[in-house]
Amino acid sequence: MGALAELRTEALGCTRCALAETRTQVVFGVGDPKADLLFIGEGPGRDEDLAGEPFVGRSGKLLDKLVQQELGLDRTEFYIANVVKCRPPGNRDPLPAEIESCRPYLEGQLALIEPTVVVTLGNFATRLLLETTEGITRLRGRVYPFRQGHLVPTFHPAAALRGGAEVVAGMRADLVRAKRLLAGETP
Ligand code: URA
Repeated sequence: MGALAELRTEALGCTRCALAETRTQVVFGVGDPKADLLFIGEGPGRDEDLAGEPFVGRSGKLLDKLVQQELGLDRTEFYIANVVKCRPPGNRDPLPAEIESCRPYLEGQLALIEPTVVVTLGNFATRLLLETTEGITRLRGRVYPFRQGHLVPTFHPAAALRGGAEVVAGMRADLVRAKRLLAGETP
């Protein structure tokens, strides 16, 4: 078994925080374990908790469409995961203690996948990885150095569903930033 598959097996039995009591399934992540591109969302919603896969609901459908249109990639060609691997009840925000308990899984995914480009979706993933309290609207629109590569913050697709054309246009522009980085262009 590969190291990422081992980490997944460990996560599937995780009881480090109280989300273990209310989840249907752990939503570890999916995609190419050697991907150059890693998307990180916030946490599973209802659809994801039932399916065991990230971003399978309405937000995910929009994300898949935008990534296909701007990068020409499907889910087998990148990796997608969340900050917390279990659904917060009622889709509430994940608590700081839950994010901390789950952090080793995200860190493991980052270390084992070693992506060139990390795209953070929304405030939670972006603030966690950039170690800031600044909001996504101010942080997005540029590229940040991150570990062995780059980090591109963008809106969460749920915000794009609510916010309409302007938010979608911002996401598209950020995905083009990711595409250029993947092609080896310097930021
Ligand atoms: N929102 C997220 O942040 N992640 C999911 O997997 C689904 C919705």
